[in-house]
Amino acid sequence: MNLGLKNKVALVTASSKGLGRASAESLAQEGARVAICARDGKTLKTTADQIANATGSEVLAIPADMNSSRDIEQVVKETVHHFGALQILVTNAGGPPAGYFEEFNDKQWQEAFNLTMMSAVRLIRAVLPPMRQEKWGRIINITSLSVKEPIDNLILSNAIRAAVHGLAKTLANQVARDGITVNNVMPGYIQTDRVEQLAQHSAERTGRSVADVLAEMGQPAPVGRIGQPKELGALVAFLASEQAAYINGVSIPVDGGRIKSAF
Ligand SMILES: NC(=O)c1ccc[n+]([C@@H]2O[C@H](COP(=O)([O-])OP(=O)(O)OC[C@H]3O[C@@H](n4cnc5c(N)ncnc54)[C@H](OP(=O)(O)O)[C@@H]3O)[C@@H](O)[C@H]2O)c1
Repeated sequence: MNLGLKNKVALVTASSKGLGRASAESLAQEGARVAICARDGKTLKTTADQIANATGSEVLAIPADMNSSRDIEQVVKETVHHFGALQILVTNAGGPPAGYFEEFNDKQWQEAFNLTMMSAVRLIRAVLPPMRQEKWGRIINITSLSVKEPIDNLILSNAIRAAVHGLAKTLANQVARDGITVNNVMPGYIQTDRVEQLAQHSAERTGRSVADVLAEMGQPAPVGRIGQPKELGALVAFLASEQAAYINGVSIPVDGGRIKSAF
C-alpha cells in the first residue's frame, strides 16, 4: 500500500528514543521529511543521523523541552521555516512520574499537567495555521492504555491523559472540515527506556528483579509479551497517511489485546 507520505512534513516530539523515535522512523521510511526533538541534543543528533541513514529521508533535529512553551513555539517555527510546511504532528512527551495519590502535591500535579496536557495544547495551537493553510493535516497524540484502564501507580498519567483525549475528540469535530484529522494512539506496555524505568520502580517496591517485572508486564496481554516500538510506529504512519482520511476522533490501543473491554 502506498501511504502517500512521500515528501510530507512531520513533526514528532520527544523522539530521540522510544515511541517517538519509532514513530519518526516509520514516517521517514514512508518518505516523509521529519523534524524530531528532545532535551538532550547529542542523543537527538545521533538519532536523526541514524534515521536519515536508514531511510534516506531528511531528518531535522531540534533540541527542545516539552515543558517549555517557548521551546514548543520554536520547534514548530523551525520545522515550518526549514521544510516550508507542516502537515503531520505526533505529540509525545516524557511520561509524568509514577506514584500514588498521596505522593503528589499541587506543584507536582501542575508540572504533570504542563508536560502532558499543555504540551499537546501548545503544539496543536501552533500547527493548526499551517495545516489549515493546506487544507490537510494529521494530528496523532501518543497517550496510554491507562486512559481506558487506569494503572494503580500512575495516577498523574491516568488523570491527565484523559484530558488529552477530551481535547482530541473535541478538536476532531472542529477541524475535520479543514481536512485535518485528530486521533490518539494508546500504547500498552512497549519495551522502551521508560518502561524499563517503570519496571525498576515496581521492582524496588516489591523486591523482585527487573527482568521478572518486565516478563510479568507482558502476561496480561493475550499475545503474552510486551510490545516493540516499531509496532506502534506502524500505526502512527498509517494514521498519518492519505488512506486514513476517514479515521477521525478515535483512540486506538497498541497493546496486544490487553484492554479487556469490547469497545
Ligand atoms: N513505553 C510504553 O510502554 C508506554 C506505555 C504507555 C504510555 N507511554 C508514554 O509514551 C511516552 C513515551 O514513552 P517512551 O516509552 O517512548 O519513553 P522513553 O523511551 O523514555 O523516550 C522518551 C523520549 O522523550 C524525550 N523526552 C522526555 N521528556 C521530554 C521533554 N520534557 N521534552 C522533550 N522530549 C522529552 C526523551 O529524550 P530526552 O530525555 O533527551 O528529552 C526521549 O527521546 C511517555 O509519555 C510514556 O508515558 C509509554
